[in-house]
Amino acid sequence: MKHRQTLLIAAVAASFSAAALAADVEAAKGLAEQNNCLQCHGIKKDKDGPSFLKTAEKYRGKANSEDELVKHLNSGKEIKLADGSKEKHKVIKTIPPNDAAQVKNLVQYILSVQP
Ligand code: HEC
Repeated sequence: MKHRQTLLIAAVAASFSAAALAADVEAAKGLAEQNNCLQCHGIKKDKDGPSFLKTAEKYRGKANSEDELVKHLNSGKEIKLADGSKEKHKVIKTIPPNDAAQVKNLVQYILSVQP
């Protein structure tokens, strides 16, 4: 319930700031934290996975970049960690479940990271 309220507040805040910001950064970071994404991805620092900045630079200006990253976050494809071990990439979870708008917001944030 607490998460829901936080998300509701974030959503209301987003609707006010949407004109100024492409992505709701706070909501995006919150979702990344809830999902432990930052355990493997720094915003600007590579960890087990590429930094969000590196992903932004890889995809910036490409057609379908948003769709591809949304798919990446929903599909759980096999990835290789820095130590060479393999596992399935985390499938993102939202509250409420399968909230495409939240995932899209996170992807837009990742693509917007600047050096
Ligand atoms: C256990 C570590 C781990 C966790 C947790 C993790 N990732 Fe990743 N992620 C990786 C690795 C490793 C790769 C590189 C995969 C590859 O290049 O094959 C990756 C790749 C990515 C990419 C780049 C995909 C591309 O096509 O270039 C994005 C974006 C991403 N992760 C976002 C996230 C988000 C958002 C979360 C949280 C929902 C998350 N990751 C959780 C390890 C992780």
